[in-house]
Amino acid sequence: MLNLDLSSCKNIKIPESLKEKGLNSLKKLKKKIKEKKIGFIDLVNEPTEEIIQLSKELKLLSDTLVVVGIGGSSLGGKTIQSSLKNPFDINSKKVIFSENIDPDYFNELINSLDLSKTCFNVISKSGSTAETMAQFIYIYDLLKKELGEKEAISRIIFTTDPKKGVLRKLSNKMGFKCLSVPENVGGRFSVLSSVGLLPSSYLDLSIDNLISGASEVARLGLEENFENMVLNYSILKYFLNKEGKNISVLMPYSTKLSNFSNWYVQLWAESLGKKGLGQTPIPCVGAIDQHSQLQLFMDGPKDKFITLISLKKHNNEIKIPEFDKKLEALDYLSNKTLNKLINSEMESIYTALNEVKTPTVIIELTKLDEYHLGCLFMFFEISVAITGEMMNVDTFNQPGVELGKNYTYKKMGKKGY
Ligand code: PA5
Repeated sequence: MLNLDLSSCKNIKIPESLKEKGLNSLKKLKKKIKEKKIGFIDLVNEPTEEIIQLSKELKLLSDTLVVVGIGGSSLGGKTIQSSLKNPFDINSKKVIFSENIDPDYFNELINSLDLSKTCFNVISKSGSTAETMAQFIYIYDLLKKELGEKEAISRIIFTTDPKKGVLRKLSNKMGFKCLSVPENVGGRFSVLSSVGLLPSSYLDLSIDNLISGASEVARLGLEENFENMVLNYSILKYFLNKEGKNISVLMPYSTKLSNFSNWYVQLWAESLGKKGLGQTPIPCVGAIDQHSQLQLFMDGPKDKFITLISLKKHNNEIKIPEFDKKLEALDYLSNKTLNKLINSEMESIYTALNEVKTPTVIIELTKLDEYHLGCLFMFFEISVAITGEMMNVDTFNQPGVELGKNYTYKKMGKKGY
């Protein structure tokens, strides 16, 4: 399933009082979950039939789904696609994430689409984010001109709050199909809701397996004892943050998990960066970043805590053929596998980082599939929630983001700002 190796940090003496604080924070979190103030755990019990049915209808209409959304409305789905689908498979259905409002990129994207074979999933929990709304208006207008109003409405699906926001209103008024994100689930915690599940189902991924992995970690991660790996990880990270490790690096040894690092960055930064506190998350990918940021991690300021993610078994084994027995410089690679090379690099970097006293832990996934990705999402969601409780910040709001959004509304002349 998922194994957390904290052995290199076993000499770090965490005060008993701080461990108790961690346990109490978990209890507080569980109380909020019970009172339905926090909803991301309960997503594992939500029915998925509507999502699966809708994805079937979309697949009949299209071979490309464009997800229009930003932040928590896109990063989860994007992570699922790049972790579990082959990006070079031209025969399978495709999901494109249109996040930014860069006019040049947007123009290129729109011009590349065959609108008669494309559907759009406009995702916004608040139903008001300017980047998403601007793209929606453009796309609706274009579809209406090209295919007519009825067809335009049938090709755009909303995912939003069950009651609030412009998208919900438009759906009620004009008939756009609309999936709900539970009221008590915010953007960056929404990957296991319809936000991440509709694109996954469109891509023929097993959303049941994603959910069952998440469900298993939800069970383990809420256990009130010090066997609980999510709790131990959170306590260690909190303690090290207090000791001056202000930077938290996530480094999966997998290109396929590179977007997972980006998803983690948003989760950690937006949830905990409050009241002058927080830990700056850095996204990395092994082995690529060994040739980029590692020098800094080894020899720069001692302000980092590093989490490596490894795969016990890859889905493919690639053997390096024998090249030239007499060429010693390359012969050490002959008949070895890329699998051995990437795992050896990870183990070597782990040893080297420990040698220079940079606290480093390893999360090992048995393999990369829907189930294990579900485990990984839930691991970090529970961890950030426990850490937020320990820090005494509201993990689930984002006042800084809202302030930025409000200034944009003002600059763009929105009434009331
Ligand atoms: O995590 C969050 O709440 C934010 O990052 C949002 O996901 C992001 O701002 C987009 O908001 P919305 O989904 O309301 O359009």
